[in-house]
Amino acid sequence: MEPAIPQRSARSRDQLVLFIAGALFVLIVIIESLAPANVVGAYGFVVPILLVATVRKRSLMVLTLLACVLATYVGLLRPTKPGRFVSAVINRTVVVGVLVGVAYFAMTREERKAREEEARAALAAQAETLLQANMQLEKLKDALNRSVRLAAAGQLAAEVAHEVGTPLHSIAWHVQSLAEEPQLTPDMKRRLQIIDQEINRVVKNVKNLLSLTRQRKPSRSPLAVEELVTSVAALMEPSFRRKGVELRVHVGAEASTVWGDAEQLQQVLMNLLTNALAATSSGQQVQIIAGQRPVSSDEAAARQRTGERPAETMVTLVVQDTGSGMPEEHLRRAFEPFFTTKASGDGTGLGLYLSREIVTAHGGTLDIQSEVGKGTTIRVTLPNYVATPASVEATHGR
Ligand SMILES: Nc1ncnc2c1ncn2[C@@H]1O[C@H](COP(=O)(O)OP(=O)(O)OP(=O)(O)O)[C@@H](O)[C@H]1O
Ligand SMILES: [Mg+2]
Repeated sequence: MEPAIPQRSARSRDQLVLFIAGALFVLIVIIESLAPANVVGAYGFVVPILLVATVRKRSLMVLTLLACVLATYVGLLRPTKPGRFVSAVINRTVVVGVLVGVAYFAMTREERKAREEEARAALAAQAETLLQANMQLEKLKDALNRSVRLAAAGQLAAEVAHEVGTPLHSIAWHVQSLAEEPQLTPDMKRRLQIIDQEINRVVKNVKNLLSLTRQRKPSRSPLAVEELVTSVAALMEPSFRRKGVELRVHVGAEASTVWGDAEQLQQVLMNLLTNALAATSSGQQVQIIAGQRPVSSDEAAARQRTGERPAETMVTLVVQDTGSGMPEEHLRRAFEPFFTTKASGDGTGLGLYLSREIVTAHGGTLDIQSEVGKGTTIRVTLPNYVATPASVEATHGR
């Protein structure tokens, strides 16, 4: 589509050209009437004809030409010297011939120019499309390279995780048995507790690594969002209380349901709340806000493209904290697997990556907004599930 401003300026240029052409036409008619014998004045009609041709409208050109021809022959109505009438007719017919020729050539040239300009604009538009397609290709190539590298890293991580996982379970079991020994001193008990906590942390990291490489397909069922949110909040509440961070839950008036894998979506909320808790300090606040909004036209089109069920509303789950926030370079890398700013052993850097993978597999999106010193907002959007008679039957039939 052409931009509106150049179109408007072209229109006002045409209006100016037509005004000048009209003024010239009137001027020549006046000169002709003052010096009727002088046919040279009629040649002046060439100028308005050339001007009108630049407006590139055939109908306008035909009208102008007719007016000029008429005005040229009007000169014949004035009295001429005896015997000069025939030569006046011949002279004025020659002028008319010149005017018709000029009009024809000027119009043909302008129309050719217009065709060339159109072809040039179409070519420029095609070049732009090609450029964009090329950029898209470059992006896809980068993404492919990244996923190839990731697949290799993931494979290695899975092997290491597997090798570490088995002896870890055995160590954990022995530590728990030791902790039950009656003759332990309080100091020994405290040390065993620390060992147990550290083992749990390693087990969590190993689990994260394994879920990265063995991402299973979600096993879905209709889930009440309120239940999902309140159960995760209840699980996390003690950790928030210990740190003096307030955890608030707001659930909208409308009951929302999502078609999801309970375990995976709980994992997403736990990851987001764990991050928010790590970024906040005593006296600060974390909120979970669950709500609904109508589906956008982009989302509806994307769902249609991927063959997913149409949804009318989207469920939004926002985890908002008033914590440290993230600087631009961390924000840019937040979804990269293994990106972490936590101390070695404290974070695998997989929380956000896995959370987004899970949400995407559920047909949703996960976005992040953050400002240093103000806090972070993570917005999860999932399609609202509306039971159809067929889906109700399928659920009961299972
Ligand atoms: N709410 C938040 N506020 C500030 N920074 C955040 C927040 N959430 C994530 N981050 C930053 O993004 C990084 C990546 O987060 P992610 O959850 O992927 O990994 P992690 O928390 O470091 O480790 P893991 O979740 O695997 O234990 C974090 O290290 C942290 O720097
Ligand atoms: Mg995390």
